[in-house]
Amino acid sequence: MKPSSPIIKKWAAPLALAFGALTASAGVLAAGGGALPYSYEADVDNLPSLQRGAKYYMAYCSGCHSMQFMRYSRIASDLEIPEQMLRDNLMFTDGNIGDTIASAMPAEKGEDWFGQRPPDLTLETRARGEDWVYSYLKSFYVDPERPMGVNNLVLAGASMPHVLWEQQGWQVLASEDHDEKEGGHDGHGHADPFDSVRKGALSPAEYDKFVGDLVNFMAYAAEPGRTDRQALGVKVLVYLFVLLGFAYLLKKEYWRDIH
Ligand code: HEC
Repeated sequence: MKPSSPIIKKWAAPLALAFGALTASAGVLAAGGGALPYSYEADVDNLPSLQRGAKYYMAYCSGCHSMQFMRYSRIASDLEIPEQMLRDNLMFTDGNIGDTIASAMPAEKGEDWFGQRPPDLTLETRARGEDWVYSYLKSFYVDPERPMGVNNLVLAGASMPHVLWEQQGWQVLASEDHDEKEGGHDGHGHADPFDSVRKGALSPAEYDKFVGDLVNFMAYAAEPGRTDRQALGVKVLVYLFVLLGFAYLLKKEYWRDIH
C-alpha cells in the first residue's frame, strides 16, 4: 500500500479545478478567425501600454465611439492615472470623472455623416476578437470606389475613415505577383496583403505597437476584472501548494511512529 495516494487523491480535484479556472479564462478570449491578415493577443497586464492605449483611444476614437460600460474614474484607478491628470489630458467632454465614456458626437449625426452609427466599443474585443480589431486597425487601404476613398480588408465597405492615417500612412492592396516576387512577410508567417504608398509618421513596427496599445486598452475595457481574477487564481494555487506541503509533513509525522 502506498501511504501517499490518499493525499494525492484528495488534492487532485481542487488542483485540477484551480488549473481549469485559470486556463479557461484565457481560452475563451483566444478564439480568433482564420482568414485575418494579422494575429494579436492582448496583454492586459502591461500597465504602461494600457496607459498609452487609453491616451490614444481618448484622442483618436472617443470622438465617435462611446464606451458606455466604462467610467473615467475606473480607468484612473485601474491604470494608476491620477484623476486630475486624466481630467486634464484624457477627458474631452466636460463631464464628471464618474461618467461613462460617451462619444462626443450625437448618435443621429453619426448616421448622417457616415451612414452608419459608430458602434459602442466597450465589448468590441470580446465581440470580434483581439485579432480582428488589431487586423481591422491595420487594414485600411486606398480605394477610389468608396465615398471616402478608403476601404477596409476585414470589414469590406466600412464607413469609418482611416483615422490613424497620419500614423500609418497610406497603403493599397498588394498585387498577387508582387507578393510572389518579393514575398513580403510581417513576421507572423502571413504575406502582408498591402503595399505602402505613403509613409506615415510612425515606422511599420511603431505603428504595430501603437495599434497593440490600443487593442490592449480595449481588451482591458472589455473585461476590467480579468487581471484581478487571474491574480486571484495564482494566489489560490500558491495557497493550495503550501497547504499540500503542510499536509505532507503532517502525514510524515503521523506515519513516523507506525513504522
Ligand atoms: C470619424 C468617426 C470615427 C472615429 C474617429 C473612429 N471611428 Fe471607428 N467606426 C466609425 C464608424 C462610422 C464605424 C462603423 C463602420 C461600419 O460598420 O461601416 C466604425 C467602426 C469601428 C469598428 C468596427 C466595429 C464592428 O465591429 O463592426 C472598430 C473596431 C472601430 N471602429 C474602432 C475604432 C478605433 C479603435 C478608433 C480610434 C483609433 C476609431 N474607431 C475611431 C467611426 C469612427
